[in-house]
Amino acid sequence: MHIKPFKLERYFAKYEFSTKYLISSSDCDGYSLDYILACANSTERELWDNLKFSYTDSTGSDFLREAIKNHYLSINSDEIAVMSPGEANFILMNVLLKNGDEVVCMSPAYQSLYQVAESLGAKVKFWLPQETSDGFYFDPDILNELVSEKTKLIIVNFPHNPTGFVPNVTDLQKIVEIAEKYNIVLFSDEMYHKIIHDPNFQLPAICDMYENAVSLWGMAKSFGLAGMRFGWLATKRKDILNEIVAFKDYLSICNNAAGEVLTTIALNHSECFIDPNIKKILKNKAIFADFVEENSDLLDFYNTRAGSTAFVKLKSNLKSYEYCENLVNNSGIMMIPSEMFDYGSSHIRIGFGRENFSEVLSVWEAFIRE
Ligand SMILES: Cc1ncc(COP(=O)(O)O)c(C=O)c1O
Repeated sequence: MHIKPFKLERYFAKYEFSTKYLISSSDCDGYSLDYILACANSTERELWDNLKFSYTDSTGSDFLREAIKNHYLSINSDEIAVMSPGEANFILMNVLLKNGDEVVCMSPAYQSLYQVAESLGAKVKFWLPQETSDGFYFDPDILNELVSEKTKLIIVNFPHNPTGFVPNVTDLQKIVEIAEKYNIVLFSDEMYHKIIHDPNFQLPAICDMYENAVSLWGMAKSFGLAGMRFGWLATKRKDILNEIVAFKDYLSICNNAAGEVLTTIALNHSECFIDPNIKKILKNKAIFADFVEENSDLLDFYNTRAGSTAFVKLKSNLKSYEYCENLVNNSGIMMIPSEMFDYGSSHIRIGFGRENFSEVLSVWEAFIRE
């Protein structure tokens, strides 16, 4: 299989560890090992103290899948398979798709969500948002027009990277009904699950709503544990799950033993990880709203209701890519242009999950003044 370079990841590879400031990261600051272990109860601490680096269960150890299960309403521990999020996405597409299949995917989107499908020969139709004065909106009626009995897979991502869009429950129900109408598998990338800015708008995982859905979640975003490299698929479709686990034998085979214990601790004490992240995101979002007000000739920002990122309109004479290259080369701030999402050249992604956010904004402010 030939696959095009992952533009966003290549852009990160170029600058993430060589430049001084980042303003577009979608993850939150990583928690330390000490912090994770301090959250552990005595049983979890015992797991850690007795840790051995043997092979682990390829679907994920029992204690880990039990901890994951507790975050869903109706998913059992044998309806979960643990692996890195990228691996999960790659395997799922390989298991479900073949040359000529029709797929519908949101756009803009994290590239692997449509690129793996395209590389397998699938024809991808894109579900585009409207940009309203209330922010980005993905209209289920437009999705409905794109889907037909030929559609093999619908791919969604809520809360959405990069726009921060999340549907309300009525729209989410409509999306599920569209998939249900033709009995289509719905792949729901929920990497930003539970990062909801107003707790009144929490959404269920789609695998809890629809028998034919596969939900993906993991540690990188909501939990601030990107370096753990852990994620999982949850689905009631045991046939799909079995094929996924069999495919995994050709990739990582099983998960790293230390990460399983640490991930279990974080899942069992999720409030110690997710709540501080949401607080930080809200604080930084408010600071950013003020910044945009002062720089309204350059930027347009509509409030977001979920996730850790926003897709901000750049009102520059330069294309986003040129603006970002100029910024990183002259101020040391790495910013992601919309070209990395195959979505025009007039947006930038802003990430709210980092503690040094206001420091980076003041460096950007100085760049703008110059
Ligand atoms: C929507 C989405 N899905 C999947 C991933 C991959 O997650 P991870 O970095 O943990 O592999 C990302 C990472 O940015 C993402 O934004």
